Amino acid sequence: MSVSLAAFLYLISGICFIMALRGLSHPSTARQGNTFGMVGMAIAILTTLALPGVLSYEMIILGILIGGAIGAIIAKKIEMTALPQLVAGFHSLVGLAACFVAVSAYYEPAAYGIGTKGAIQVASLIEMALGLAIGAVTFTGSIVAFAKLQGLVSGRPLVFTGQHMLNLALGVLLIVLVIALCTTQSDTTFWLIFVVALALGFLLILPIGGADMPVVVSMLNSYSGWAAAGIGFTLENNLLIVTGALVGSSGAILSYIMCKGMNRSFFNVILGGFGGDDSAAAAAGGYDGDRTVKSGSADDAAFILDNAGSVIIVPGYGMAVAQAQHALREMGDQLKAKGVKVRYAIHPVAGRMPGHMNVLLAEANVPYDEVLELDEINRDFSSTDVAFVIGANDVTNPAAKTDPSSPIYGMPILDVENAGTVLFIKRSMGSGYAGVENEVFFRDNTMMLFGDAKKMCEEIVHAMDQL
Ligand code: TAP
Repeated sequence: MSVSLAAFLYLISGICFIMALRGLSHPSTARQGNTFGMVGMAIAILTTLALPGVLSYEMIILGILIGGAIGAIIAKKIEMTALPQLVAGFHSLVGLAACFVAVSAYYEPAAYGIGTKGAIQVASLIEMALGLAIGAVTFTGSIVAFAKLQGLVSGRPLVFTGQHMLNLALGVLLIVLVIALCTTQSDTTFWLIFVVALALGFLLILPIGGADMPVVVSMLNSYSGWAAAGIGFTLENNLLIVTGALVGSSGAILSYIMCKGMNRSFFNVILGGFGGDDSAAAAAGGYDGDRTVKSGSADDAAFILDNAGSVIIVPGYGMAVAQAQHALREMGDQLKAKGVKVRYAIHPVAGRMPGHMNVLLAEANVPYDEVLELDEINRDFSSTDVAFVIGANDVTNPAAKTDPSSPIYGMPILDVENAGTVLFIKRSMGSGYAGVENEVFFRDNTMMLFGDAKKMCEEIVHAMDQL
């Protein structure tokens, strides 16, 4: 394939990736966005394989078969709720790939046309040192994020005195080492960059609490994009540079949007040591046990909902765990058929990944115009008869507004307590992700519906049929 044809096809592929990102910005166009992404990637791979630099296909085909088989099995098996850790796990591989490319370019520079060992062009040395450093930070950082999200290590923030100074010192040391590599081209310096960056990735992510992991995963996504762009420079592959930059910048924008959703600065997240231990919180239940709550049955809920003029449904992580979205949609349809105004309120960090609730509701064919963002709907709770909270907890917790000592203080929340009646479906008095008690459970206008979200919705649908 001629170089100009390859450049043209890479351009088409780059446009497909931009269209993919555009499509993924709204649930109604997300499928189309995915298709653009797949087409773009197919063009990119086939074009790269047809380049004259590719000498043999055996190893490539073997790699595609093994990698593709593993990817297909994981995609089939993975639970929706485990996607954040899967993404973190995959990012670690992107980081590692960047390191491998840097190592091979450093030891075989002639193969990359960037000089000879010991006499590599300075610009190429900078690119490969950055690729190596960012790749190594992404690698260990993503592994820590994976372990925290998978519950292999505690989600509790691990803070110690002087950690920020240590990280700063390691960051400065990395810059010094990169400069030293450019002047000396010493193997020891090269490997020191790798080791220091590995340590930095580990130390940067370890102190961050479980509740901030989504921002971290998105940030690592951004890093992996920049690492890929770095590889693109080393491999002189324009598409990889463009794609890496797209991933890098979109990951950074997503991190920013999530920080805004929690009303925190990016630096506060990175330096914060925020959030609690999931398991400890669950064990304690986040609940002192002395106070009473009002609990009701599916029949009670059906009666209240049937008599409402307007209902706002607030889905959260528990809906995803129970896979209750279809039963919930059925309940919504039933209410609408009875003339009740039904809307869904989505908190920006409800669930465990950006857009988690939107994806599930779209899967259940909930109309997009009924699904509203926090800013669009929050004021309406005070004029709504029923807030129907299904498997959500932290995103409704007023401690975020009133308790400066709370780990979720400052996060915007859905003001469900302003509704006439608040119905909470959850299995127990257990706390949410941040491990804090929710005051709304104890309010006079709250009724707890204890049980699995899907089962409870089905029972409510059944009970409403009987009314
Ligand atoms: P959470 O605060 O985690 O609360 C979920 C609730 O669902 C739990 O209290 C749990 O109570 C209940 N639940 C679990 N399984 C259930 C089931 N089968 N049936 C019924 N209820 C069930 O969820 P949220 O309100 O969606 O808030 C999200 C939290 O996760 C925030 O703190 C956010 O910062 C964090 N986070 C968000 C993301 C993103 S980007 N969305 C990613 C990671 C973390 P029971 O155990 O009593 O049932």
